[in-house]
Amino acid sequence: MGPRELESRYCARNYAPLPVVLTRGEGAYLWDVTGRRYVDMMSAYSAASHGHGHPRILAALEGQARRLAVPSRAYYSDRLGPFVAELCRLTGLDAALPMNTGAEAVETAIKAARRWGYHVKGVSHDRAEIIVAEGNFHGRTTTIVGFSSEPAYRDGFGPFAPGFRAVPFGDLAAIERAITPETVAVLVEPIQGEAGIVVPPEGWLASVHRLCHARRVVLILDEVQSGLGRTGSWFAFQHEHIRPDGLILGKALGGGVLPVSAFVGTRELMDVFTPGSHGSTFGGNPLAAAVALEALHIIDDEALVERSCVLGHHMLKRLRAIRSPVVKGVRGRGLWAGAEFDPAFATAREACERLLAKGVLSKETHDTVVRLAPPLVIARHDLDWALDRLEEVIRDIEFARHPAAA
Ligand SMILES: Cc1ncc(COP(=O)(O)O)c(C=O)c1O
Repeated sequence: MGPRELESRYCARNYAPLPVVLTRGEGAYLWDVTGRRYVDMMSAYSAASHGHGHPRILAALEGQARRLAVPSRAYYSDRLGPFVAELCRLTGLDAALPMNTGAEAVETAIKAARRWGYHVKGVSHDRAEIIVAEGNFHGRTTTIVGFSSEPAYRDGFGPFAPGFRAVPFGDLAAIERAITPETVAVLVEPIQGEAGIVVPPEGWLASVHRLCHARRVVLILDEVQSGLGRTGSWFAFQHEHIRPDGLILGKALGGGVLPVSAFVGTRELMDVFTPGSHGSTFGGNPLAAAVALEALHIIDDEALVERSCVLGHHMLKRLRAIRSPVVKGVRGRGLWAGAEFDPAFATAREACERLLAKGVLSKETHDTVVRLAPPLVIARHDLDWALDRLEEVIRDIEFARHPAAA
């Protein structure tokens, strides 16, 4: 059996991969098993923001793996401190709790907010409520999918944990109405990624921040996908000149090679954790900490935030200049965009398959949005090449549906 058949036969079918078998990656390029090269316009949902196989990431990985990888947090290590100190410096927050996957860091944030509610705000036992946004994506644990509005993520996985209230994304008044004395937190993505790169109205986040402070509710931002340069600033919250009480990071924190995540927060929020109250065998291990610290340094040293800003501007300008009935709209910020396809012409899946055939790797989100999120290290000519292919695909789709118009 070939790799595709083996995967289909022996792996759970919780993904529907595009028909390509990848074997190698370097920078913004990926190669399939036949040796064909592709431009990566997906970067593993932002996990590969540094590009594939970044030499400094590989050196940190190998060097640290040879020295010490996983002794557990039963002991101090010489790698964790420098990593969390750098996270605090970059975010302007006070302390961090390292985990592995994004979902675990979200769970950590939920625990922090609830305990803060009981210990600090004085909410009655087990009554804490967290306000979330419709269309959210925060991961796949049963608690998290319990407050998702996407049936595919929830169906058959209940019963779900109570304590969450969903309001429309970008609607300040809805949050205001939803706050009760038992509300402990507002938990949102500054830009909704999996929902289709949905950018809220300008000023919304700053207003939510003000509202939260006025009503003694903590603001927790999930920047697992939007953080670490993706939107053209280190963190998306900086576009609105605010600082949240809690920040969830993941994906690119692992430099494209390891799952590394963290919940970063104010001292007041983080001090709710006491020995034994939370933990993870792998969270904050020296290997992860060394790689993540190097991942942060590379963003600085290679000016990846500035690259994201400049190239992202260019990408969005090109996308917005496309005049075709096939594309109903383009949203995005930095090197992160979603092109909304008109389903009367093609599904986003069909567009991604056509892109694949032309040597560009992307991935649809929901049925209508083609996501464009290349590694932040992508060269401008590769970005332009991939966008040229996208324009061809759009023209091909338009022609296929209206041959007489050609
Ligand atoms: C905003 C956001 N939060 C959390 C997650 C979950 O991260 P992970 O898949 O590492 O658990 C994701 C994954 O796409 C995400 O986009």
